[in-house]
Amino acid sequence: MVILGIETSCDESAASIVKFDKKEGRLFVLANIISSQIDIHKEYGGVIPEIAAREHVGQIIPVIDTALKKAKLNYKEIDYIAVTKGPGLVTSLLSGIETARSLAFAWKKPLIEVNHISGHIYANFIDNYKQIKYPAIILTVSGGHTNLILMDKNLKLKIIGETLDDAAGEAYDKAAKMLGLGYPGGPVIAKQAQIYFKQNKKQEKSDILLPRPMLNDKTFNFSFSGLKTALLYRLQKDQNWPNRIPEYCFKFQEAVNLVLVKKTINAAIKYKAKSVLLSGGVSANLDLREKLETAVKEIPKKTKFFSPKLQYTTDNAAMIAAAGIFSAQKGKIKDFSQIKADPNWNLR
Ligand code: KG4
Ligand code: ZN
Repeated sequence: MVILGIETSCDESAASIVKFDKKEGRLFVLANIISSQIDIHKEYGGVIPEIAAREHVGQIIPVIDTALKKAKLNYKEIDYIAVTKGPGLVTSLLSGIETARSLAFAWKKPLIEVNHISGHIYANFIDNYKQIKYPAIILTVSGGHTNLILMDKNLKLKIIGETLDDAAGEAYDKAAKMLGLGYPGGPVIAKQAQIYFKQNKKQEKSDILLPRPMLNDKTFNFSFSGLKTALLYRLQKDQNWPNRIPEYCFKFQEAVNLVLVKKTINAAIKYKAKSVLLSGGVSANLDLREKLETAVKEIPKKTKFFSPKLQYTTDNAAMIAAAGIFSAQKGKIKDFSQIKADPNWNLR
C-alpha cells in the first residue's frame, strides 16, 4: 500500500509518501518534504493565521510534486491520499483539505481524514510498528496539546490526562518570549539549557526555584500556566536575568520535563504498559527523551520506550500518511466530498 500524506494544520506545508509492507510489518518513508514558514512568522513572535494560509496555497502543490519526484512515483502508483482534518488553524487546514479533495477527485483515489494528534502518535510507528506492544502509554506534547493517552491492542486511543491550561510547547514558547529568545521557543530553550548544563557540570545549587505544577497529584492532568507566571515574577525580581539566560532556561526545562516524566511513568505503572511512546513537537527535546527513556528502564516490568526520529517529531506529513495507513486498514474511508476541516477535532 502506498499513501500520500498531506499536512497543513499550522505553519508547515508538508507532503510525504509512505509505503506499507504488510507482510514485513514495516513502513518505508519514500519522501518527506516540508516547507516551513517559521522564518516568516518569527518576525511576529508567533504564527499569523492569514499569512500561514496564504503561504500554504503557494507551497502545497510544489511540495506534493517534489514528494512524488523524490519517491520516483507516478500519481497512478498512489493507493490512498491522507490529509489532516484537524485540530489546527482553520484557514491552514483548508488549503491542505481542498488540495487533497481536488487530487482525490482528479486522480480517483480514496481520501482518508487524519487527526493531527493521532498523526503525532503514529510517527512512532514509522520505525517501530512491529516492536510496539500493548497496552501503550503515549505522552503527546506539542504546541497546542499535552495529553496522556492509553492505546490498546486494537489501536484504540483513550485520553487519560490532559493539560488544564497551556500545552507544554506553548509554555516553552511563552517562556522563550519572556526571555527575549524568539519563536519557536522550545528549540532555543533546549539549546540554552544545554549551555548551562555544560558550564555547570558540578551541578552547583541555583537560587532560581520554579514550581513543578501538579507533580504529586493523583490525576494524569497537567498545568503549565502557573509555572509560566512564576518564571515571569522571578525575572521581574532579578535585574541580572539577561546575564543568566542559560540558567533560567535550564531551570524551566527541568521543571517542565520533571512533571512530564513523572506523570507518564505513573500512568505506565497504573496501566501496566508494555510500551511508552513519546510524540509531538516537544518530543524533539533531547533532555525529555533521555529522562523519559531512563525512567522507563527503571519500571520493574519490561516496559519499552519509543520516540520518533527527530525529523518526525515536529509537524510533518509522514506521520499523517502513517496514521492514514491504519485508518485505511480499518476501512475508515469517506467520500471525499464529506471531508471537511475541523479546527477543534478532539481525539475523544
Ligand atoms: O507538534 P508541533 O510541531 O506543532 C503543533 O502541533 O503544535 O509542535 C511545536 C512545538 C512548539 O511549541 C515548539 O516550541 C516545540 O514544539 N518544540 C520544542 C522543541 N522543538 C520544538 N520544545 C522543546 N524542546 C525542543 N527541542
Ligand atoms: Zn503538531
